[in-house]
Amino acid sequence: MFGLFKKNKSFTAKLVDYNQEFVVEPGDSLLTGALKAGLPWPKKCQVGSCGTCKCKIIDGKTRAEIDFSYVLSPDELNDGYALACQTSLKSDISVAVNLID
Ligand code: FES
Repeated sequence: MFGLFKKNKSFTAKLVDYNQEFVVEPGDSLLTGALKAGLPWPKKCQVGSCGTCKCKIIDGKTRAEIDFSYVLSPDELNDGYALACQTSLKSDISVAVNLID
């Protein structure tokens, strides 16, 4: 098929404040990738309604699986904030988040 059906691929998320990175598998959210890697990423609902998993995408391409504007303010959206539980990766990314101590 000459690459018409490109296989989904994994991407890497780098935590800018922690000097750590993890892989996000195709079909997994940013949050799922972090949890599979054993990282204590803050979370509650995991369906995009509480805002607990909020993070800031510093670099790279992501896709919002839901409309974040119900949870995040216009300023936060302009600043690149995203809900990790409803974010897919479209490239390797750098992301800022406060992990749970
Ligand atoms: S865990 Fe609630 S919005 Fe992501």
